[in-house]
Amino acid sequence: MKRITTLIISVLALALFAVGCARPATDASAAEPAAMTDSAAASEPSEAAGTEPAPATEAAPATEAASDMLELTLEELEQYDGKDGNPAYVAVDGVIYDVTNVSAWSNGAHKGYFAGNDLTDIIKNKSPHGVKNLEGLPVVGKIVDG
Ligand code: HEM
Repeated sequence: MKRITTLIISVLALALFAVGCARPATDASAAEPAAMTDSAAASEPSEAAGTEPAPATEAAPATEAASDMLELTLEELEQYDGKDGNPAYVAVDGVIYDVTNVSAWSNGAHKGYFAGNDLTDIIKNKSPHGVKNLEGLPVVGKIVDG
């Protein structure tokens, strides 16, 4: 009789132990994907396909794309004058182009005009080349109202 009681107690203790172990394991795996989406996806595909990792991965590129494009007022654009190590940006039709690496724009100056400004009227009406010379330049942002 004593043996049977000991056996029952042992089985119950084992069962309790098993339940106790299972809980923290589930919590840990649920917390992981939020912090480390990629590695969690690799090691636990069933968990990764669940709730958290998918929105996290989708949100990242959207945030990146938004932060890549500058939104400057005309006043803020002035600091990108190509001098003292500043990049040289010019705005045309509200789009900001980077002319830092254009040899004709060295030190932010070009044929009497200066980077850090909206030169829409000049490039369209005074330059011999027109807006075609903007093709291929890096677009870094857009002008917003200040
Ligand atoms: C908003 C941007 C720009 C403005 C306002 C602008 C303005 C001008 C103006 C007014 C001239 C005539 C200067 C003169 O009287 O001789 C000129 C010439 C010239 N510009 Fe620009 N420019 C711009 C962008 C560029 C870019 C991005 C390049 C090169 C990639 C470039 C290359 C040249 C060259 C080579 C000339 C000499 C004439 C020619 O070959 O067409 N310009 N520019």
